[in-house]
Amino acid sequence: MHTPAAVPPPSSLVIERGASLRAFNTFGLPASAQTLVRIASEADAKKVVNDPELGRAPKFILGGGSNLVLTQDVDLCVLKIEIKGRRLLETREDAWIVEVGAGESWHDTVQWCLEQGLPGLENMALIPGTVGAAPVQNIGAYGVELKDRFESLDAVDMITGRTVTLDAAQCHFGYRDSVFKQRLGGKSVITKVRLRLPRPWQPVLGYMELERKIAETANIHPDARQIFDWVCDVRRAKLPDPAVIGNAGSFFKNPVVSAEQCRDIIGRDPEIVHYPMDDGTYKLAAGWLIDACGWKGKSIGRAGVYERQALVLVNRGGASGAEVVTLARAIQESVYGRFGIRLEPEPVVV
Ligand code: EPU
Repeated sequence: MHTPAAVPPPSSLVIERGASLRAFNTFGLPASAQTLVRIASEADAKKVVNDPELGRAPKFILGGGSNLVLTQDVDLCVLKIEIKGRRLLETREDAWIVEVGAGESWHDTVQWCLEQGLPGLENMALIPGTVGAAPVQNIGAYGVELKDRFESLDAVDMITGRTVTLDAAQCHFGYRDSVFKQRLGGKSVITKVRLRLPRPWQPVLGYMELERKIAETANIHPDARQIFDWVCDVRRAKLPDPAVIGNAGSFFKNPVVSAEQCRDIIGRDPEIVHYPMDDGTYKLAAGWLIDACGWKGKSIGRAGVYERQALVLVNRGGASGAEVVTLARAIQESVYGRFGIRLEPEPVVV
């Protein structure tokens, strides 16, 4: 017998027009979205795909807005990801697997895991943004990157409406990079992330600032909670709290140069901070390069270079995205002029 196809229920998506994005970007830059849709579940993402108007519109996927410079109003369909939920999915012999909704705050998730007795994320405490944004740019700090604690993620393909599960290899993680910044940018909505926290837990303490804390406190066997507190201390001392001073964390990536280029620069500037990489290249500290060009504490208009960390650009109050970009270009020019190195912005500029 032929049964009629079920009539889909009317869309319950709430569509906002001309919505202000100021509160949704940690730089506090003024801009509005022509169309803004809040995505609170995987089903919402699928409804967008099936919606006659929204389905075809080019998308901009917004997490915590902590890696974003808005220079103009956004005429794309902005999807604000608000998918919640955290649970311990599985306890394996060699790892705990924790599943988290993409819209949860990253830092709150680090804290929640510690409270549940699930250590492993403590070096990445206080990184602003959401869990769904963490794999997009493979966030990292103090010797641990997201890819080191990653199991898999679910994403909705915004063309087909299908849910796909990607493992680490399929995400193509690189330094502050992944497939979601490349081929899948704007085409795929991450809904859930599964984190892999290795058992038994082992501290990661190789970073100079953590070694300094060990020396200061004579605590040579810190637990995860202690490392969490140290990382929070270190970050609070040199990075501005976006709730107080608008910023997007590190504004430039640390540039990677060949061994030959590095030798050449050291010949001219013996003090330059550089780290050898596994493949024979060297990563240079962009903050040092900017500082060496005299930018720390300087401003152009209402956009400035943070006094305590030259890699962070800040909104001194009422800055526009254009002012931030003007400052960023001036910094790029002076670093290029002195060192011959092109700095690449870390945040997405819209
Ligand atoms: N430095 C200066 N002057 C400055 C800033 C830095 O001389 O104004 C020197 C420091 O003394 C240090 C070196 O540059 O020797 C590197 O600085 P830091 O250790 O502060 O780290 P970073 O390279 O500036 C990176 C990440 C941060 C992450 C820290 C800790 C990038 C672009 N940034 O910063 O991530 O928290 O390491 O692991 O990779 C972010 O991505 O938003 C972010 C904050």
